Amino acid sequence: MKMPAIGLGTFRLQGQTVIDSVLAGLELGYRHIDTAQIYGNETEIGLALRQSGLAREALFVTTKIWTANLAASALLDSLQASRDALGLERLDLTLIHWPSPGDEISVAESMEALALAQQRGLTRMIGVSNFPISHLRQALDVVGAGAIANQQIEIHPFLQNRKVRAFCQQMAIPVTAYMPLAYGKVMQDPVMQALADKHACSPARVALAWLLEQGYTVIPSSTRRENLEANLMAADLHLDDDDRVAIAALDRNERLASPDFAPAWD
Ligand SMILES: NC(=O)c1ccc[n+]([C@@H]2O[C@H](COP(=O)([O-])OP(=O)(O)OC[C@H]3O[C@@H](n4cnc5c(N)ncnc54)[C@H](OP(=O)(O)O)[C@@H]3O)[C@@H](O)[C@H]2O)c1
Repeated sequence: MKMPAIGLGTFRLQGQTVIDSVLAGLELGYRHIDTAQIYGNETEIGLALRQSGLAREALFVTTKIWTANLAASALLDSLQASRDALGLERLDLTLIHWPSPGDEISVAESMEALALAQQRGLTRMIGVSNFPISHLRQALDVVGAGAIANQQIEIHPFLQNRKVRAFCQQMAIPVTAYMPLAYGKVMQDPVMQALADKHACSPARVALAWLLEQGYTVIPSSTRRENLEANLMAADLHLDDDDRVAIAALDRNERLASPDFAPAWD
């Protein structure tokens, strides 16, 4: 199964909230769920997947290896634990969540371990997240072009991340845009609101349509059924060149996810 272009984000969602969000999403037609070891919700997501009654082959599930598990000695065991928590025989996609803080563990060590996990059947595909170009080059050196099934990075109208996107395109690495709604900021922006008024829809839908038309996967999160439903319909909205020019002008390098251990960004 290919990665569905619209997935369901689950960062910050815990306990019954994440179960309800994932169950509602699956009922509405989401088939792609994005989690991570650090989100602390893999067990609850596993419960929701089973409760949905959907066949395993109908689902696409991604997790991400946390920075504490990037050493070769830890990565496979941690992925086995994720797989067990999710109740899956194997993940569809497993990403290195962030480069190792201060490059303490080399990209080569983690990518080799991830490729071994793939060979052993723990995950169907492998990829990376929050990798600047320098780290992407190192990952490509280890596993080769074509083996990196995805790079997940922050992209929304206020952080358009053009350099790393261009590099991914050049290397044919598919990109997933995380925080596609800038964690709600898209809804407060007057330009996005004006575009939404023009198309008689929500600013969220404009932002998602803008990303989807460029070929990116999007993984918005929501705790509300009506928002989950609206986000799933975003691909139906067609933007024009004036809309694209207006959104391009909103880029202000506003990065929302930049912890103190983040790599030097491009
Ligand atoms: N790889 C990484 O390092 C990384 C980092 C951050 C995030 N992620 C992934 O990306 C996913 C998305 O990012 P995010 O959850 O931080 O932020 P987001 O999806 O950009 O924004 C979510 C916020 O937008 C609101 N929202 C959603 N749909 C809406 C709609 N149609 N209308 C109005 N408001 C709407 C939600 O509120 P309601 O709940 O009220 O709808 C929530 O507050 C995460 O959940 C996670 O899976 C990955």
